[in-house]
Amino acid sequence: MPQINGNTELFGIIGNPVRHSLSPAMHNAAFASLGMNRVYVPMPVNDVAQAMSGLRGLGFRGASVTVPHKEAVIPFLDELDPVADRIGAVNTLLLRHDREGRTIVQGFNTDWIGANAALAAAHIELHGKRVVVAGAGGAAKAVGFGLIEAGAELVITNRTAESGQELARWLACEFIELDDLAWLTADVFINTTSVGMEPDTDGIIIPPGLLGKFSAVMDIVYAPLETRLLREAKTAGCRTVDGLAMLLHQGAEQFRIWTGMAAPVQVMRAALEEALRRKAACAVCGKVVR
Ligand code: ATR
Repeated sequence: MPQINGNTELFGIIGNPVRHSLSPAMHNAAFASLGMNRVYVPMPVNDVAQAMSGLRGLGFRGASVTVPHKEAVIPFLDELDPVADRIGAVNTLLLRHDREGRTIVQGFNTDWIGANAALAAAHIELHGKRVVVAGAGGAAKAVGFGLIEAGAELVITNRTAESGQELARWLACEFIELDDLAWLTADVFINTTSVGMEPDTDGIIIPPGLLGKFSAVMDIVYAPLETRLLREAKTAGCRTVDGLAMLLHQGAEQFRIWTGMAAPVQVMRAALEEALRRKAACAVCGKVVR
């Protein structure tokens, strides 16, 4: 814990719910490891307009934005990063002062960078590779956007065809039904749905028998850290990337935006794993996480 005093700079996460967010552990560990007098707090928010005034009025320097406010914050920004504008969602705020002392709030999206960086850190090549993304929500949109930026040939699949097709149109890529995955050849499979998340840890979005045809499989679910999808993928001989990797790398990019410095990713990953272990232990013993 830093010594909180009159020079402490404020950061946090707005969303609802945020009580179980792992981001405070990750960012506070990063700030502390570099001796920065900064704190990052979870802030449950219902009213985005009030929260944005609050961040400005209280002198916050930066914030993460999570579900369900990633789109709703946009009208309250002074500047919107062009990529966040294209994706239509903001997960990072940077607050600074202009020459007249006015607070300027800038919005960015680091989710799309998170998936790419997580795959790059695992030495998984994307350029020219065919990548299947399961899901059609906000996570699929950001991940899909990043994959196309990285030069991948993207295929979207989703339980509900209409929303899958709509996302595929937006990304200008192919859509296939989940049932047709058996006929597809591809290099990488990425799950962006909540299938496999606690408490339904037996869930798997793709028949395990199909996993052997991919060289790499990534899951954005991180509770449990080894989902059934990743376990079956390992058994099938695939390289795997877990859900903490995307959380870590989108957070590392946030850290860079807030500080102008490269993030201490090993410290951040260790903090995420520790926070996840504490959560799991508390879930077993029934105590509230402190
Ligand atoms: P986010 O914005 O976090 O990505 P979301 O918008 O709720 O979350 O999207 C959830 C995704 O998970 C959707 O693609 C959803 O599929 P549908 O469009 O058919 O609803 C997918 N999903 C959730 N539960 C699922 C399940 N049990 N089986 C298959 N897909 C599921």
